[in-house]
Amino acid sequence: MKFNTRTIHGGQQETDPAFGAVMPPIYQTTTYRQSTPGGHKGFEYSRSGNPTRAALERSLASIENGNFGLAFSSGLAAIDAVIKLLKSGDEVISTNDLYGGSYRLFTKIFEKMGVKFHFVGMERAEAIEEFINENTKMVWVETPTNPMMNIIDINAMSQIAKKHNLLLAVDNTFATPYLQQPLELGADIVMHSATKYLGGHSDVVMGGLVVKEKELAERLYFIQNSSGAVCGPQDSFLVLRGIKTLHLRMQRHCENGEAVARFLKAHPKVKKVYWPGFEDHPNHAIAKQQMKGFGGMVSFSTAEGTLESAVKFVEKLKVFTLAESLGGVESLAGHPASMTHASIPKEERAKTGIVDSLIRLSVGIEDEEDLLDDLKQALE
Ligand SMILES: Cc1ncc(COP(=O)(O)O)c(C=O)c1O
Repeated sequence: MKFNTRTIHGGQQETDPAFGAVMPPIYQTTTYRQSTPGGHKGFEYSRSGNPTRAALERSLASIENGNFGLAFSSGLAAIDAVIKLLKSGDEVISTNDLYGGSYRLFTKIFEKMGVKFHFVGMERAEAIEEFINENTKMVWVETPTNPMMNIIDINAMSQIAKKHNLLLAVDNTFATPYLQQPLELGADIVMHSATKYLGGHSDVVMGGLVVKEKELAERLYFIQNSSGAVCGPQDSFLVLRGIKTLHLRMQRHCENGEAVARFLKAHPKVKKVYWPGFEDHPNHAIAKQQMKGFGGMVSFSTAEGTLESAVKFVEKLKVFTLAESLGGVESLAGHPASMTHASIPKEERAKTGIVDSLIRLSVGIEDEEDLLDDLKQALE
């Protein structure tokens, strides 16, 4: 099946055995009757497995071109499970410009447990080589990055990772498998905050992992079951439903994202626009090669360059909502320095360009004209 068909049917070939329901039923149950000890129909206890979650996990594996999917109670819970593959003394090389919550998990939880992280600018994949030593076990890549929209060459990174026998994990939240498929480019693990585009309607918090290798899937499943950060059946159903329109929504997110990026670039009250579709974006050629489109995320800084100018702008918006998160059907605006990335120290933020006048837009699927009119009135 091709991608659009897989968003709807991928991993869903088995219909409901009870009544043939077309949509997977929400199995709102903790446990399952056994005829004799161990005599069950594949499910024993809903932390270990639940039929609705299993349907979602098969869908995740299908749309990412992997063999095994795992669903978690949040994106961070999924990242937490990945880092638990490591032990004290191991080292990770991570993108330096990444979601603030990932940075907080790495530095405030796992560094305390002895895992060491190197935060490195990855615009040139080879830049990581000087940080590799015998303790290095994993490379953590986010591309496009949140919020600076930097692009990292997944294929080049996978070649370096393979040469040094390192696991390559890619946070594919911003791009989604509609635009970019990291496993096809050589990654070992794909991670999602399914809260964002996969769910797509800002009504559920969830995380996902997809891998190709059975042995790696088994290790991650052991962590998922042992640590227990699983999602419930109702939330699994919502994300499964969201995925069915992923391709349609992403197409419109890309169209509106481009219109917004070009409008902002031409506006005198805007200093710089960060969007990988511009030809002068430093890694535009790689974006074009590894992505099918440039997505709906756009960041920009105000010409005035002050915190006040950014705050005033977001307060004036009427169609865009000032709120955390991204990837829903509705357009959102955020101020990374005080919201999503506040957990990164100011000096670290400044190094990657997250200045006080930076605004991040998650461009939704409303009418383009309404979005541009809203940005225009707020800028003016
Ligand atoms: C790129 C990225 N990765 C991971 C996360 C964490 O996901 P969650 O909020 O579902 O825990 C987010 C959340 O904003 C994100 O933007």
